Amino acid sequence: MQPDEDVRAVTLASAIDFEGFRRACRALWADQVGPDRVSWSTAQDPEADLFAAAANAAAASTAPPVSVPSGFMPLCESAILHRDPSRFALLYRLLWRLQIEPALRHDTLDPDWAAVHEMAQAVRADMHRMRTSVRFRAIEDGAAGGPLHVAWFEPEHHIVEATASFFAQRDAAMRWAILTPERSVRWDGARLLAGAPARRDQAPAADAGDEAWLGYCRSLFDPARGELSELPKRDGAAPCEMPSGSAAVRSTTRVRRGPNDPQGYRRPTQPQPGAGQPATPGGGAPATLPALREALERCRECPIGEHATQAVPGEGLRHARLMFVGEQPGDQEDLQGRPFVGPAGQLFNRALAQLGIERRDVYITNAVKHFKFELRGKRRIHKTPAQQEAAACLHWLESEIELADPGVLVALGATAARQLMGTAVAVTRQRGQWLKRADGRCVLIALHPSALLRMEPEDKEAAYDAWLRDLRKAADGASR
Ligand code: URA
Repeated sequence: MQPDEDVRAVTLASAIDFEGFRRACRALWADQVGPDRVSWSTAQDPEADLFAAAANAAAASTAPPVSVPSGFMPLCESAILHRDPSRFALLYRLLWRLQIEPALRHDTLDPDWAAVHEMAQAVRADMHRMRTSVRFRAIEDGAAGGPLHVAWFEPEHHIVEATASFFAQRDAAMRWAILTPERSVRWDGARLLAGAPARRDQAPAADAGDEAWLGYCRSLFDPARGELSELPKRDGAAPCEMPSGSAAVRSTTRVRRGPNDPQGYRRPTQPQPGAGQPATPGGGAPATLPALREALERCRECPIGEHATQAVPGEGLRHARLMFVGEQPGDQEDLQGRPFVGPAGQLFNRALAQLGIERRDVYITNAVKHFKFELRGKRRIHKTPAQQEAAACLHWLESEIELADPGVLVALGATAARQLMGTAVAVTRQRGQWLKRADGRCVLIALHPSALLRMEPEDKEAAYDAWLRDLRKAADGASR
């Protein structure tokens, strides 16, 4: 766009400056500057107009306040992380049109809506790839607090800072650094720091020694380079945007065991410049739910799979309003290859029927995909999966969530709650509460149906009623 008196130049502080973008939109709307009269850039763009106002305050104006449908802001928050430089113009155009064409909010086929949805989807997929494919390599650097864990990752979009808080929650108890050509991020046990971008041509070879990786890592976080900054940690403190009863949790670490793990866990792989580690044993992260189900059957990332009859994937609708997550398949589920078909499943089906929910309209899965049991005579007795077994299974669940893309999640019991939140959740105390995950998804905490089955007869009825209320709350939240 040519410099023109009629054109308002807006320069945002960075490619991910969502707050600046919001402020600019408000000011532009207040001044009634149409989308075709705005030129957008970021301070890092080579051609940025550094003298352009970053439209900080909305001018006093007679323009009506900006009004957008409820899902619009989260959509913008994701889409703004897309690499396409035209995203700011697109988002402002859509915002403008939403003000003057009220029916547009229902027109899902509109090309601007479709383009924004596509961008947000691509960003979420990239964040998911980062969450599931980063593999840390432990390096002894002599500092207090254990080894430094280093990983390499190449994002497609501007997602590094946004995804770093996921690791800061999940791996809070270890020191780590993720090197990326976008920006490098480091967790020192208390603070999330952003350092210089890593360069593939300067990074040590994948099989280079620890010293080389440590040296390179230090150079990226050298305060003398002046590129170090502390990032806000977007932890669970933000309330879940659900009707009521939100709460937040922090997480503890979850680290896979090393090569000599006596319990037979898969060896964590080395950081590979240029290549994210596959989430599936034989290839990249599955791209569809059927591909995930097929890959899951081959999974032997922890020892449970050796003894089970088969892996039990989730089942149900993509984009279902509700995704229920249980602990692990039981005896019947293991034999039939479907979740929640045994006694706990029957109770669960009864609750769904009472709530007027069709089982085929929801998505049902488990935190752990194989049945863990102990043989007593001929009986297979359920054994709770160890934390490490659950951790090894986490990427399957995360992939399922990403691909099924449900409205809200319901954690049935402590194993599911821990798996979904990355930290222990006191289920009996927190049941009925909404928690928010680092990826922004809302999780309702509920008892596991097996816990109800195990209760004393005199307690069962009241506990079942309370459980139904919790599940109804989830369904109501999902409808909104
Ligand atoms: N318990 C679970 O957690 N999941 C099932 O699929 C069955 C029983």
